[in-house]
Amino acid sequence: MTDVSILGTGLMGAAMARVLLRNGYSVTVWNRSPAKASHLKREGAVIASSATEAITASPLVFFVILSYDNVRALLTDALEHRDIGDVVNVVTGSPTEADELEAWTRENGITLLDGALLTYPKGIGRDDTVVLYSGDEGAWRRNETMLRGLAGGSQYLGHQARLANAVDHVSLSFVSIVQTAMLSTLAYAQVLGVPREQAVARMHRSLTNMKGYLDYALPMVDSGDFSATESTIDTWALSTRDFARGWRDAGLSGKAIAAAAETVRGAQEAGLGQFDLAAVYQFELGQADSSS
Ligand SMILES: NC(=O)c1ccc[n+]([C@@H]2O[C@H](COP(=O)([O-])OP(=O)(O)OC[C@H]3O[C@@H](n4cnc5c(N)ncnc54)[C@H](OP(=O)(O)O)[C@@H]3O)[C@@H](O)[C@H]2O)c1
Repeated sequence: MTDVSILGTGLMGAAMARVLLRNGYSVTVWNRSPAKASHLKREGAVIASSATEAITASPLVFFVILSYDNVRALLTDALEHRDIGDVVNVVTGSPTEADELEAWTRENGITLLDGALLTYPKGIGRDDTVVLYSGDEGAWRRNETMLRGLAGGSQYLGHQARLANAVDHVSLSFVSIVQTAMLSTLAYAQVLGVPREQAVARMHRSLTNMKGYLDYALPMVDSGDFSATESTIDTWALSTRDFARGWRDAGLSGKAIAAAAETVRGAQEAGLGQFDLAAVYQFELGQADSSS
């Protein structure tokens, strides 16, 4: 037996194996293509000849591969062994996949911690690196020291396995939207002939102001009172439509601004035109209610 097993020694799994070895744990590794795991033997890892061998070699088993389906397939092969330890899945996926894996592991008597890695491999082993975990609390408590050795800022969010994934999705959706908007806007500025330093200064200013925007919008979101005091969704629908036209006239794809214009227009068509822009929140929730 070893202390911990890692299935998947790609970029992330190999980084985790190295840090665990450096932290003094005995580590079993397995990789679908054996060549990617064999170099870890020199560093002290035990190489398993099959996934099942790795799964049953340690009381804590990490999955660092590419899909939830593959995690379930490898665990299915190992099910006949009653000695499967705590499973920690750090594969990137969706909250729904986490729900499904949680239900399946529960049915099969496996304890699951689902994790979201908020880091690149180079961050593994650092005190300030964050990995979010959710799922079986006992598994978190039993393994907390080892998990914090991999990422000192790790947090346990709660017993629903989907939580880590859900927080990751919220955080990265926001980052994806804002970063894509930033880069597309820089291109728009370039085509319009706005000097780079002007464009960057305006964007910096807007980013600073946006922190204040949350303080402005949250009381409306919390109270459900979206009465407009500054500008309405009708006004925003007109201006975002005009912005989108400007991007198209400039020959750009305009997809980033079109997404904003379409969202505001959706809220307008849902009858929220006379409310503050913050009512977009209510519009989106209305979509979720009508689809469920
Ligand atoms: N790298 C990062 O910066 C980062 C950051 C956050 C989260 N993550 C997440 O960490 C996970 C691993 O990422 P990575 O960067 O290590 O990727 P990677 O370097 O591409 O490694 C992928 C690993 O998955 C294995 N794999 C793929 N399909 C498989 C299958 N059907 N059955 C068994 N093993 C399979 C690969 O095995 P083979 O070698 O045989 O192909 C390899 O070990 C992903 O979910 C990723 O989203 C990565």
